[in-house]
Amino acid sequence: MPPALDIRGLSKVYGDARGLGRRPSSTEGFSALEGLDLHVEAGAFFGLLGPNGAGKTTLISAVCNLIRITAGEVRVFGEPHDSLAARRLIGLSEQDVNLDRFLDVRETLLYHGGYYGMDRDRARRRAREMMEVFDLSGKAGVRAPKLSGGMRRRLLLARALMHEPRLVILDEPTAAVDFELRLELWRYIRRLHGEGTTILLTTHYLEEAEELCDEIALIRSGRLVARDSAEGLRSAYGATTLSEAYVRAMGGQEDVSFLA
Ligand SMILES: Nc1ncnc2c1ncn2[C@@H]1O[C@H](COP(=O)(O)OP(=O)(O)O)[C@@H](O)[C@H]1O
Ligand SMILES: [Mg+2]
Repeated sequence: MPPALDIRGLSKVYGDARGLGRRPSSTEGFSALEGLDLHVEAGAFFGLLGPNGAGKTTLISAVCNLIRITAGEVRVFGEPHDSLAARRLIGLSEQDVNLDRFLDVRETLLYHGGYYGMDRDRARRRAREMMEVFDLSGKAGVRAPKLSGGMRRRLLLARALMHEPRLVILDEPTAAVDFELRLELWRYIRRLHGEGTTILLTTHYLEEAEELCDEIALIRSGRLVARDSAEGLRSAYGATTLSEAYVRAMGGQEDVSFLA
């Protein structure tokens, strides 16, 4: 089986106005990813860790063909990332809660199904199922602005799963989420992984990566710094905790023994 993700030599320069016939912007030439290679096996639970600005969202946007890449090649289960086939294989829950304020919960799911070419009956069945799984059935007719923060997060995840993608990408799904909802989201995501879905999760919570992911890639300034299991990272950096390994990998000299 081809890998869920095969990324070779991926570079992204923001504000690169070359060929667009306009004046360079103030961000001209900002390099967010530099020759990144990454391979994620089908069925993996993969964590992408790195500080703010490391390039995690850029990497995801490249995979999902939401930005124009500067160089490199990205394949999703063997399909070129800019193909329709690849798009259907991926479900994305973005970092920003980007729900349409004029759609209620059911419509949010049905419109998404339509966008992904699901026929009406299938979309209806799947929407009902998603509302049940994510405990949103009682809110089917409620628009996004009237949902609680937790409900919005759950709807974002439900929407990402509507078209039954084989690779689910979650960009900081638990940022600014309370403890209970975090545990709840972990439970959903674990179940999904248990059903055979490949998961790519970005987070800056080290304990989350350690708890959930079989494999972790550390990225900094648009480059891959390390890639291993939590256990492997600890031993590679001679660390007793993942936090310590992380700080060493990122080149910090801080004493993080207090984190143990
Ligand atoms: N649209 C954009 N235009 C210019 N620079 C951007 C844009 N999006 C992100 N960047 C820059 O690219 C770098 C990586 O950002 P991002 O991928 O969002 O990082 P992360 O998700 O790891 O926090 C940051 O320095 C950010 O400011
Ligand atoms: Mg981000």
